[in-house]
Amino acid sequence: MENTIIKDKFNRPLHDLRISVIDRCNFRCQYCMPADQFGPDFVFLPKSALLTYEEIERLAKIFVQIGVEKIRLTGGEPLLRRDLPVLVSKLSEIEGLKDIGLTTNGVMLKKFAEKLKQAGLKRVNVSLDSLNDELFGKINGRNIGTKPVLEGIEAAKQAGLGVKINMVVKKGLNDTEIVPMADFCKKNGLELRYIEFMDVGSTNGWKMDDVITKRQIYEMLKEHYELEPVNPAYFGEVAKLYRYKDTNVNVGFISSVSESFCSSCTRARLSANGQLFTCLFNGNGHDVRNIMRNGATDEELTRRISEIWNGRDDRYSDERMAESNKKRKKIEMSYIGG
Ligand code: GTP
Ligand code: 5AD
Ligand code: SF4
Ligand code: SF4
Repeated sequence: MENTIIKDKFNRPLHDLRISVIDRCNFRCQYCMPADQFGPDFVFLPKSALLTYEEIERLAKIFVQIGVEKIRLTGGEPLLRRDLPVLVSKLSEIEGLKDIGLTTNGVMLKKFAEKLKQAGLKRVNVSLDSLNDELFGKINGRNIGTKPVLEGIEAAKQAGLGVKINMVVKKGLNDTEIVPMADFCKKNGLELRYIEFMDVGSTNGWKMDDVITKRQIYEMLKEHYELEPVNPAYFGEVAKLYRYKDTNVNVGFISSVSESFCSSCTRARLSANGQLFTCLFNGNGHDVRNIMRNGATDEELTRRISEIWNGRDDRYSDERMAESNKKRKKIEMSYIGG
């Protein structure tokens, strides 16, 4: 079938779909699911609320027909759905879908890397905020050291998956790790992206003061390396990339606080229970799951999803500091899938 491209109110196409497959995680990262807020009594989604793989596949096909070329599976921690390769192989059959990625904390990657690659996964983005075991254990709130993550990264490389490393930088927490992480990733041929700590959700105690900006990190790196800018690979790429001179290794910055990129934001997010969000910071999800479970046809689902995207006018990061935004209903990143 011929694909139709739909645009939102600011003429942004829908190119990229992030699908959270589960809201649970085996980590309790301070900046995402702090342990004191997500304790043993926290109620996660019951299994019946989660989209089945068949439901995800059906929706994914519809999204591809209206322009999505790239799907990223996220969580929580997506590998907590143990049979994830089954979903990946269903998605990899979809004609017109060019890229399937996974964002993971890497702890279970060693076990899954080969199976995921065989199922058709192309790339993994692994979160790693420090190389220091003690600090890493403190950040992930579970005292888990770096070993399983490093082994997961190695297994992903061996399996032939593309690997990027995500490091969320928070002032006073892991800024001492900025240069060691650059060294490590450069030596191992890994693309590292420094992510500015964001005000997602309402549990991570975000303050502007905690943010170390892209510029500040860039200045630190410049004292050690020569960097050359790299052109974006496609419209809407989130990370600004540089290359270490005389190498083929990139390093990037995701500067959603200091240099927002809403004007080229082409991403929709589907939560694990089938709510469609048009912005990481827009707490009003659209319940696609119930429309589907109530018997909607593919045409009806396509129409509804297109209407939602056509009506989209989100640009939260551009307006972050506006008074009206301070009272906004926010959604947790672990739920919406980052
Ligand atoms: P690729 O570029 O495809 O490798 O993936 P990605 O960088 O889009 O995905 P990843 O899951 O690795 O996300 C990295 C960081 O970028 C996370 O902190 C995301 O929340 C952040 N991010 C991704 N998309 C957006 C977005 O649309 N808005 C904002 N504000 N942050 C985003
Ligand atoms: N700010 C920025 N990035 C975050 N992530 C989780 N919480 C935050 C936050 N508050 C990152 C994770 C993962 C990606 C999906 O989002 O580390 O790499
Ligand atoms: Fe889990 Fe990722 Fe959130 Fe950490 S950032 S708690 S690994 S979902
Ligand atoms: Fe897109 Fe919202 Fe992020 Fe802006 S803040 S880049 S609109 S997800």
